[in-house]
Parts: sequence; C-alpha cells; structure tokens
Amino acid sequence: MATSPSAPLRVLTGITPSGTPHLGNYVGSIRHSVRQSVAPGVESFFFLADYHALIKVQEPALIQRSTLEIAASWLACGLDPERVTFYRQSDVVEIPELTWFLTCVTGKGVLNRAHAYKAQLDKNVAKGEDPDADVTAGLFMYPVLMGADILMFNAHKVPVGRDQVQHIEMARDMAQRFNHQYGEHFTLPEAEIDDAVATLPGLDGRKMSKSYGNTIAMFAPRAQLQKQIASIVTDSRAPGEPKDTEGSALFQIYQAFATAEETEALRKAYSEGIGWGDAKQMLFERIDLEVAPLRARYEALMSDPAEIERILLIGAEKARKLARPFMTELRHAVGLRNLAAGAGKGGARKAKVAKPSFKQYRERDGLFYFKLLDASGATLLQSRGFASPQEAGRAIAALQQQRGAALAALADQLEPTGPEELRAASEALEALAEATAHTNGS
Ligand code: TRP
Repeated sequence: MATSPSAPLRVLTGITPSGTPHLGNYVGSIRHSVRQSVAPGVESFFFLADYHALIKVQEPALIQRSTLEIAASWLACGLDPERVTFYRQSDVVEIPELTWFLTCVTGKGVLNRAHAYKAQLDKNVAKGEDPDADVTAGLFMYPVLMGADILMFNAHKVPVGRDQVQHIEMARDMAQRFNHQYGEHFTLPEAEIDDAVATLPGLDGRKMSKSYGNTIAMFAPRAQLQKQIASIVTDSRAPGEPKDTEGSALFQIYQAFATAEETEALRKAYSEGIGWGDAKQMLFERIDLEVAPLRARYEALMSDPAEIERILLIGAEKARKLARPFMTELRHAVGLRNLAAGAGKGGARKAKVAKPSFKQYRERDGLFYFKLLDASGATLLQSRGFASPQEAGRAIAALQQQRGAALAALADQLEPTGPEELRAASEALEALAEATAHTNGS
C-alpha cells in the first residue's frame, strides 16, 4: 500500500546473526540506529536476519548463540521493544512467501550481478575451479530474501553500510517491477548511508570485520578489552617521537568514541610524541567509559535468555499484525484467490456467484451485532455487541473499505480470532470488494 505523506518515516535495520557483535557493528550501526529509533516521526523495525545467517553459517549452535548475543546487544544499547518493532526474521513466516513472489519478478540477470555472489564466482575462476563451486542457491537468492525483509514493511529508509547499497537498489527494482505488474503495493526503499559513522578500522588497520579476524568484541570483559586494544597495530616509533594521526587505526577508533575536544587533545599528544602504550591506555579508558554501563546491562540480559525469547515473540506478533493482512492483499493481487469469489474476466458478473456477506442482527441483550459469513455461510468473524446499529454499521463499512488493514484496527470490536480465521476473513473481504467492484462496474 502506498503510504500517505503524513505517515511516519519507516526505518528498517537488520543484522545477520553470524558472529559475536564487535565494536565495528556498534559504531557503524547499532549506536546510530538505536538513537534514531527514538526520533519523533520515525517508526523503526529492528530484526535479526537469521534466515540470512543460514547462507553463511552451518553451525546451528553458533546461530542460536549469535542471535541471542545480538538481540541482547541491541537491548543493552537502549532499544525499546515497546516503541519499535523488534523481531526475529524466521518468526515472520510471511517473509518466505513474499520472497517467492519477489523471486518471480526478479530477473536472473540482476542477481548474476550481485556483489557477494560475483565475488565468489570470481574467486573460483581465479583458482581455476568451476565458477559455481561452493555457490549455493541461497547465496544467489540472498538479495531477494533481503528485498522481502524490506518490502514486507514498506520501509522508506534502510540504514546500511556501503557494501549493502546494491541490495537496497535491487529491492527497489523488485518493488517497481511488482508494482508495475500488479498495481501499487510497495513503497520504494532507499539506502541511508551515514557518512558521519565512518567504518571503524580493526586491530590490523583494515576495516573491522569478522571475515578479517581483526575485531574487538563489543562486550568483552574489561581485562579482555584492554588486551585486545594492546594488540592494535602501530608503527615502531618510540615514545618522544611525534606520531602520525593519518592512517593510525588507534587514532581513528579513539575518534569514533571521543568528543571533538578529546580528539584534539589526542592529536596534540601524538604530535608531542605520546608513547603507544599510553595512547592505548587512553583509548581503552575512553571506550570503557562508554561501554561499561552497556556491558552491565548486556550481562544481565544474557543471563536470562527466556526473557529475550519472550520479547522477540511479542515483537514477531507485532510484525505479523502488519505482514498477515499485507500478504492477503498481495496474494489476491497476484491471483492466489478464493475460487468462490469468481474467476476470470466478468465471471462474477455473469452468474450470481455465492459470495461472502455481512449479517446484522440484535441479540436478547439489546445490543447490535454483526457477522461476516463466507460464501458457504460459515462464520468468519463475529463482532462484539454495539450500543446502536449505526456503530455496528460503521465497523462493517471500515471492514468493507479497508479490508485486511481494518482487521487489526478493529480487533477490540471483534471476538478473538486465530491467525487462520483472520486470513480467511481477510480473503473474504477482498473477494467481497472484488465482487462489488464488478457489480458496480457493469
Ligand atoms: N544483509 C544484511 C547484512 O549482512 C543484513 C540484512 C538482511 C538486512 N536483511 C536486511 C539489512 C534488510 C537491512 C535490511 O548486513
């Protein structure tokens, strides 16, 4: 559904749980996205991309552990699950279904050009191996799954590192193709690259990354943090000799945590010949100052995995409240429809096909009720009692006009309904709208 201009800005952030979070993740993504999530007018979605993890990790225990660690890290850094939608990708079972819909509008040639897949191919070719050696279809399909993550919630902005920009462009492309084929359903997402959050160098001066093995764990205990910082590569200049800030990983990491004044002070100390040992001590103290309170929360969270599981399941329900009716809309759009609603052009016009209907009635309690019945007369939805027929009528009108989207909004005016019934009700409402459109159009 196209969103109106006054709707809040939807921002969606995903992290693949394939390792222990490190300071590069914190500086490059977590810290910034948690801050942004409390900005007014922003509606944030945070999720653990565990289906994506299956592409690179074949160790089940590692995925479980990493999912827990990343969830705990986000919460420790102040993510408020009440305020944002915080979930695990694999709990939203609608995502694989959307992945398939998008698969069917994505050119294979587009996926051939995806960087991650191409890099593996190039590597194989360089080694003289079969180009497809070690390439799973999962790796090839990676961008489509990511497209489903983004398009499912009609995200406007997706904060990512530069290496992911191509994937957002592909998601945009999928949205455009689908909209062109089936009508306006998806918002076109945009990548958001914050140049203020520079990539953090790792221990060896290259970009901090799990694949280089040069990371500093985000919540390492104090002693371990100090040890890791001590192993940052420096040049061989002795204490007293002026040092270069240019190209100094230590300086850049410091800068990512320090204020402008603190950074200036270190710059001065460099030019005055601070010893590497002292500079490392300064860096350690500065990082620890910021991280220590978060580490305490992290440790508390990690000691109660059941609580994190509970939070994620609540988040998944929140996400599915949007995903379920949206998938019903999309299934209808592509033609996966209730057959009783009349198939083919004019089908519904020719014969008077049985169709879903609303029944309004009054009970002995004096209140006014309605039901939604399917084409065969079975009850799909049962309302609660309304004081007047007008109120019942308004609820019906909302269901007729907004269909699936109204189901969530009207939840407290309806008897509780399970997901399967909701799905059926949503389909019936679509069918009803379709049938009404045909009738009016003839
Ligand atoms: N591919 C992203 C990464 O490895 C993680 C991810 C999966 C993601 N789905 C997403 C990020 C959707 C943003 C939006 O960093």
